[in-house]
Amino acid sequence: MDVIKFDENNPMTTFVPPHHRQAWKTLQALSRSSQPHLRDLLKDARRVDQFHASGAGITIDFTRQRISQEILDQLLVLANESGVMTQAQAMFRGEAINTTERRAVLHVALRGSHVPNPPWGAEISKQVAHELLRVCMFAEKVREGQLLGYEAEAITDVVNLGIGGSDLGPRMTTEALSHLTRDSFKNKVRVHYVSNVDAWSLYTTLAKLSPARTAFVVQSKTFTTQETMTLAASAKRWLLDAGCPPEKLHQHLIAVTAHPQISQAQGFSPEHTFGFWDWVGGRYSVWSAIGLPLAISIGAFAFQDMLLGARAMDEHFMSAPGEQNLPLLMALFGVWNRNFLGASTHNIAPYASPLGKFASFLQQMEMESNGKSMHVDGRAVDIDTAPVIWGGLGIDGQHAYFQLIHQGKHLVPMDFIGLRTERSPLPLAAEHHRVVLLNMQAQAQALALGRTPEETLQALRDSGMEEDEVQRLAPHRSYPGNVPSTTIWVDALTPRSMGALMALYEHKVFCQAAIWGIHAYDQWGVELGKKMAQDIEAAENAHKA
Ligand code: F6P
Repeated sequence: MDVIKFDENNPMTTFVPPHHRQAWKTLQALSRSSQPHLRDLLKDARRVDQFHASGAGITIDFTRQRISQEILDQLLVLANESGVMTQAQAMFRGEAINTTERRAVLHVALRGSHVPNPPWGAEISKQVAHELLRVCMFAEKVREGQLLGYEAEAITDVVNLGIGGSDLGPRMTTEALSHLTRDSFKNKVRVHYVSNVDAWSLYTTLAKLSPARTAFVVQSKTFTTQETMTLAASAKRWLLDAGCPPEKLHQHLIAVTAHPQISQAQGFSPEHTFGFWDWVGGRYSVWSAIGLPLAISIGAFAFQDMLLGARAMDEHFMSAPGEQNLPLLMALFGVWNRNFLGASTHNIAPYASPLGKFASFLQQMEMESNGKSMHVDGRAVDIDTAPVIWGGLGIDGQHAYFQLIHQGKHLVPMDFIGLRTERSPLPLAAEHHRVVLLNMQAQAQALALGRTPEETLQALRDSGMEEDEVQRLAPHRSYPGNVPSTTIWVDALTPRSMGALMALYEHKVFCQAAIWGIHAYDQWGVELGKKMAQDIEAAENAHKA
């Protein structure tokens, strides 16, 4: 097997497979010994006080994780033995921890360009600050109706064309923070997102728009992604067919890419080209110029506030002790549930409708990062790595797939995400919010406690049911419980809390990769499909010739 050349300067050089670590073996023994059910763990009042942690405006309640203090201590030892924080320091210093692509991983620099003496160095901060200023100024120019189309009319609609990290981050945050769009007196521009190359998805968006007042942000780190390039060509054709003179096309086109030489060769003007760097992974790029459509939607100040929220989580991550470190703790719960309790999936359940796309955003972040089967030194892994991430709004999930989580044959650890305050303008908003949180807490408790057959027998009898019915139905109406969950509390959905929440998961993914000994920042798995498409296309063209 052609072992991947391992970069000797990399902090992961002295790589030890995780299951060779003493803490891993201790955890394995603990997981194989009989562990109390959550309904018994939760009888310990101290647990409710102990198993909380806060940082960067976010609080996690992990009383319903299936861990004792002993297990938590061993998980923290595993993190230490894995050198998680040493590797985190290497990341922040801009070392080439992405060794298969020989790149640094510095999305943290995108939200830290204001920080004095940054570990990544002043030159990078200078470049980041320069591009951030360009993005913010352009966003405000668009919002103030100063971007003019080919008929010298103000642009009123901006369509983002991009996929994966060039779509999910800005799309999800635009939806999550849409209340800012409504509140903003200045906003005259609507932002739309098209990612799928299926013609219908572009058609249904454009059908509502006026070509003379529509601009396109073509987002692509490589500026070669076939889906996005096809969408861009179609958008140009739509403008030209509507009467846009070819020499004015550039007024409607904006490019965001790490390869501006490619976009400018395609007619995008330098003024309308915004760059970012190879050390920004697509799924970690919303903090860069990829956030331009979001900045147009919510405004430059709000966009910078989101960066500050992520920075606050970076500072928490790099300074909080292990037992209070939110990203590290969430990573460790994931390792315990995945590698020691055998859970193959993990559900994200926001109880706040603006976070409707948060699970999709995390799917790319977690599964494109940690869906790997090779250790950093080229050895095949024989432990489990990333779980399947799925989910959606919890309230809707209760009426769709929670049945499986309550009574099915899968162990599905849950992240419940709740807002302490909600600011919908509806007259009865407070009542809506009460019902939402009541359901979130009830589901977490029901999944943890379950209901034993004995409790069910009693409950059915108490309901006045005939005894033969009680006996008949009790097995079907009992619940095993013992489903682990973390409840993540966000005070209110603001740009700052959104930034902190996303960074929390980014660093959780980092910690899990460090523990599993895998690369989180390349994505070779997506290349074969692209290559196959090119081969099939070439064969078809050859056949036509
Ligand atoms: O899915 C593969 C991938 O490369 C993602 O990592 C990336 O976010 C997406 O495709 C889009 O890539 P680009 O921004 O280069 O168009």
